Amino acid sequence: MEPLLVGIVVGLLCLREVVSGYDLVGLNATEFSHFEAHGPSLVIANVTTRAAVRGEEGWRCVRASGLSVQSGQYHTSGTRDVTANDMVGLTLIQSAAAKGAVCLDGTLPGYHLQWGFGSGANSWLINLEGGGWCNNVRTCVYRKKTRRGSSTYMEKEISFTGILSSNPKYNPDFFNWNKVKLRYCDGASFNGDTQDKDAQLEFRGQRIWSAAMEDLMSKGMSSAEQALLSGCSAGGLASILHCDEFRDLFPIKTKVKCLSDGGLFLDALDVSGGRSLRNLYRGVVDLQGVKQNLPRTCTDRLGPRLDPTLCFFPQNSIASIRTPLFLLNAAYDSWQIQVSLAPPSADPQGYWHECTLNYTKCNSSQIQFLQDFRSQMLNVIKYFSKSNRNGLFINSCFAHCQSERQDTWFSDDSPRIGGQPIAIAVGNWYFDRAVVKAIDCPYPCDKTCHNLIFK
Ligand SMILES: *[C@@H]1O[C@H](CO)[C@@H](O)[C@H](O)[C@H]1NC(C)=O
Ligand SMILES: *[C@@H]1O[C@H](CO)[C@@H](O)[C@H](O)[C@H]1NC(C)=O
Ligand SMILES: *[C@@H]1O[C@H](CO)[C@@H](O)[C@H](O)[C@H]1NC(C)=O
Ligand SMILES: *[C@@H]1O[C@H](CO)[C@@H](O)[C@H](O)[C@H]1NC(C)=O
Repeated sequence: MEPLLVGIVVGLLCLREVVSGYDLVGLNATEFSHFEAHGPSLVIANVTTRAAVRGEEGWRCVRASGLSVQSGQYHTSGTRDVTANDMVGLTLIQSAAAKGAVCLDGTLPGYHLQWGFGSGANSWLINLEGGGWCNNVRTCVYRKKTRRGSSTYMEKEISFTGILSSNPKYNPDFFNWNKVKLRYCDGASFNGDTQDKDAQLEFRGQRIWSAAMEDLMSKGMSSAEQALLSGCSAGGLASILHCDEFRDLFPIKTKVKCLSDGGLFLDALDVSGGRSLRNLYRGVVDLQGVKQNLPRTCTDRLGPRLDPTLCFFPQNSIASIRTPLFLLNAAYDSWQIQVSLAPPSADPQGYWHECTLNYTKCNSSQIQFLQDFRSQMLNVIKYFSKSNRNGLFINSCFAHCQSERQDTWFSDDSPRIGGQPIAIAVGNWYFDRAVVKAIDCPYPCDKTCHNLIFK
C-alpha cells in the first residue's frame, strides 16, 4: 500500500474509535497507552489533521492522517495540502528537578522547541499545551500514568501545525519565530504547588511554568524583541492566568502579548441549574494548591471570605490583566457544552446526549439554551473588549481549539468572520495592523465553521 493510503486507513481506524463514542473513562492504563501509541505513528502521510477525543480529563486532540473536518463532518481527504514535515523533538528540562518542578508522577517536564530563523530569529512563541484537569486523587492518579501527567508517556516528537507551523503558506505571521510547545503534565493549568505524599502525586504546575521560562530565557528568549504566549483549552486558561507574569519576564521595550484559544471557560449554570464546572474547578484549586498562584488582582478584590475558585474563571480576571490579550473562542464551545453545560451528571436522563455530540440534533429549546450561553460569553467580555489593545474572535461554531489545527487556523476554507480567517485576525492584532473585535452573528448564520461532531 502507498504510504498515503496506509495513513488514511490508520486514521480512519482511529477516528472510528473516536467518533463511535470511544470513551476513555474506564480504560485501564495499558489500554490507554495503546491508544496513545497511535499518536505519532499516524503521521505517516502528507495529509494530517487532528481529531478531538473525549477522555476522562476532557477533550484531547490526536493526530490522524488522511482526515479532515469540513462542513461539520469528518471525512477522508487524500488531497488536502497539509504536509507533515514539522516533527519536533521533546526536550526534558534537566534544571527542573532541583527546583522541584516535576510532573504529577515526579518525572521531568518537557517542551518541544523549534528554532526561529530569518526575521523571526528574535521572536518567541510559547504555546502551553492543554488537556483538561484532574480534580481529585483518583483522576490525578489515573493521569500520572498518561502523557498528561508524566514525561515517560509523552510523544518523543510531535508535529507542529497551525500557529506552530514553520511554513508561511500555513502560518503567515509566526512561521519563522522560535516556537515552543510546553507540555502539560500537572493537571491544574500550570498553576498548582503542593503534593500528596500518600498518593505519590506532585502538583507542581506553577514550578513547571517557572522552570520552563527560566530555561528558555537562558536559551535566548531573554533577548526576544517580540513574544507571544498562547495555548488552547486548559492551556488557553493557563495563558490568561500567566499572561502578566510572562510580560514581566521581559524589558518594557519587548512587545509581549497573550493569546487564549478555547480558554474562556464560563462560570455558567448547567442544564440542571447546577454548577458542574465550578465544582470541578473547586476540586482542582483545593487539591493542587492553586489559590496562592491565582492573579492577586482577582483574589484581593474578592477578599478572603470568597471562594478563590472564582478566580480560576477568566471572566473574573481578564478585566485586570495589564498585558494585551486576544480571546479566540467558539461561542458554542464543544468542550463546555459537553462537560460544563450538559454532562451526564446534570442530565441523568440523557435528554441532552445526542445534542451535545451532534448540534444538528438539538431541538429548539436546547438551541435557545445554547444561545443564552453565547449571550453570557459576550456579556463577560464586554468590559474587556473596550480596550483596543485586546483582541477578540468569537465565532458561532461548535468547536474547541482552533489555532493549533491547520484546517481551522489557516486554510482555503478555514473559519472566517467578515471574510477574515483566524490566522489573519490574530496577526493583525499582534502586529497592530488593525483593531480586531470579531464577533459573529448567532448560529446558524456562519457557514464557514468546522463544527465538531461526535458519534
Ligand atoms: C487492561 O485491559 C486489557 C483488556 O482490554 C487486559 O488484557 C489487560 O490485562 C488490562 N491490564 C491491566 C493492567 O489491568
Ligand atoms: C510528502 O511530500 C514530500 C514533498 O512534497 C514528498 O517528497 C514526499 O515523497 C511525500 N511523502 C509521502 C509519504 O507522500
Ligand atoms: C427539547 O427536548 C427536551 C428534552 O428532551 C424537552 O424537555 C423539550 O420539551 C424539547 N423542546 C422542544 C421544543 O421540543
Ligand atoms: C448529525 O445529525 C444529522 C441529523 O440527525 C445527521 O444527518 C448526520 O449524519 C449526523 N452527523 C454525524 C457525523 O453523525
